[in-house]
Amino acid sequence: MRMPKKAEFPLSEVRRYLEPGPVVLVSSAHKGRTNIMTMGWHTMMEFTPALVGCVIAESNHSFELIRKSRECVINLPTADMAKTVVDIGNTTGAEIDKFETFGLTPVPAERVKAPLIGECHANFECRLHDARLVKRYNFFIFEVVAAHVAPSPKNPRAIHYRGGGEFMVAGASISLRRRFRPGML
Ligand SMILES: Cc1cc2nc3c(=O)[nH]c(=O)nc-3n(C[C@H](O)[C@H](O)[C@H](O)COP(=O)(O)O)c2cc1C
Repeated sequence: MRMPKKAEFPLSEVRRYLEPGPVVLVSSAHKGRTNIMTMGWHTMMEFTPALVGCVIAESNHSFELIRKSRECVINLPTADMAKTVVDIGNTTGAEIDKFETFGLTPVPAERVKAPLIGECHANFECRLHDARLVKRYNFFIFEVVAAHVAPSPKNPRAIHYRGGGEFMVAGASISLRRRFRPGML
């Protein structure tokens, strides 16, 4: 797997990568231990600040790491990483070191302790913004505080989980820019 170089990216534009709902890898760290989990569903809740909501099941090893450290990184894998994405979601960090097992590179983040996954197209550093729904629904609301995105390809082949072990690969884009009201883009 190659490791694309990233450039700084405006936080107000993070939605371009997360709003369409690609499968992501969530990396975390707490007390010197790191981990990665696969996440199929998340939702952009606000653009500025960039708020992302998601459910992390309590049974996942990642749950405690993220709840206690109040941080994580949302990493965007591409189709060439699909098998690894599934394997990461079918193993637990309670038993293995996923960075080592899956040959992924932990890259130090700027603003959080959780490592970025170097091989992913984009990395979004997150801090827990609101934990009020965690107890009741395991629903975390994160604020993206730093974003790193590979400038090319412009439209990465992200994968979207359809359930039942099937994934949709992001494909062609069309632009309907001129139909938008000013300020609605
Ligand atoms: C395609 C896919 C999507 C998943 N989506 C989620 C999700 O949105 N939320 C969640 O809590 N677990 C989700 N999982 C399950 C976790 O990734 C899985 O339980 C993983 O083993 C947790 O790892 P951990 O114990 O090391 O934290 C998904 C798994 C796969 C394969």
